Amino acid sequence: MKIAILGYGVVGSGAYEVAQAAHNIEVKRVLYKRPIDELGDIVTTEYEDILKDEEIELVAECIGGLHPAYEYVSAALKSGKHVVTPNKNLVAAYWDELHDLAREHGAEFRYTASAGGGIPWLFNLQRQSRSDDILSISGIVNGTCNYILDTMHNEPVDFAEILAKAQELGYAEKDPTADIGGFDTQRKCVISANLAFGTSISEEDVPVFGIQNITAGDIKYFNEHGYTCKLLMNAGQTETGAYAYVEPTLVSRGALESSVPANNNLISLTGNHIGTLSFYGQGAGKYPTGTSVIQDVLDIENGWKFSDKSEKNDVSVDNRLEAHRYYIRENGSCKITGPLSVTEAHRLASESSDEHFFMAGIRE
Ligand SMILES: NC(=O)c1ccc[n+]([C@@H]2O[C@H](COP(=O)([O-])OP(=O)(O)OC[C@H]3O[C@@H](n4cnc5c(N)ncnc54)[C@H](OP(=O)(O)O)[C@@H]3O)[C@@H](O)[C@H]2O)c1
Repeated sequence: MKIAILGYGVVGSGAYEVAQAAHNIEVKRVLYKRPIDELGDIVTTEYEDILKDEEIELVAECIGGLHPAYEYVSAALKSGKHVVTPNKNLVAAYWDELHDLAREHGAEFRYTASAGGGIPWLFNLQRQSRSDDILSISGIVNGTCNYILDTMHNEPVDFAEILAKAQELGYAEKDPTADIGGFDTQRKCVISANLAFGTSISEEDVPVFGIQNITAGDIKYFNEHGYTCKLLMNAGQTETGAYAYVEPTLVSRGALESSVPANNNLISLTGNHIGTLSFYGQGAGKYPTGTSVIQDVLDIENGWKFSDKSEKNDVSVDNRLEAHRYYIRENGSCKITGPLSVTEAHRLASESSDEHFFMAGIRE
């Protein structure tokens, strides 16, 4: 299969290198803003060269962000080319539209690397959902936050200090808001929940509380009480619809999530028949993510069709019945609440006048 890769950054260059070792794939074109010496004349600055090339059956969009990724991906699907992307922003924001376009034009649209990076999480979630009722999903999907929290649990460091170190190591972006604010996790929650439950929920449906206000004092308290704090995405089916939210969560020391070190991810699904399945590994990085992109390409090349069920479950998110205890620190004092609904806890967080407010759900 002849393919084109758009962008040649961390993931694009990783996918290119992995493709060299894969049978039956030829990278015919790479779209980039300037020449790349080692790639020679396969590099183009003009997307039209790729769109009009009938030999190119698949476009791997590795530019990231919403624009021009959205324009490039929709044009590829409209011309019947398959699309693979690691771009969670794009997939979460244009979920319905891009799936509809793929269906209308007989193309495959796959994005395994968009949640879990190198972990075949979405692939297996989708595979399992063909024959099972997925009851819930949950997990650590942001390596930057896990690195920060894991280090804070093991060393007496403050948040600002360890965030700066994560930036130095290249684990955190210069602007870390998407990671530490929980928005990256929120997008991965949207994509995972939509695949799991056949829904089309969007980012606004998923309340999010990040880790930016956590202190060494909070962590000391958690350590003393046998808890580990992790940023988790959570979603599940309820009798009336679905719940979905992102928040720091206190898990017991024996929980699988508790022992996830450094910048790794751990993501689980619970199905009616299969029970709980967990997936662990590198959620980001050049080769893990590049591999995941090329695995999707190979699945399409092998004719594995995962196109969604055409009927959608018209389900809305309601977090009012999803309740648990919370650790809340406000105006310098902390308490453990009784069971509080997720809706109520996130309302308290958004209405607090304390800019240092911190809360974490407690998983019983
Ligand atoms: N990095 C990871 O480990 C990882 C993991 C999972 C998912 N993802 C997702 O993968 C996507 C790509 O991430 P990345 O880390 O590879 O980003 P990156 O290193 O910044 O790469 C993006 C590349 O696209 C190029 N580019 C930007 N605009 C372009 C345009 N109009 N035409 C052609 N090329 C253009 C950039 O060129 P310049 O460098 O010249 O700007 C750069 O080479 C994002 O959606 C990200 O969320 C990344």
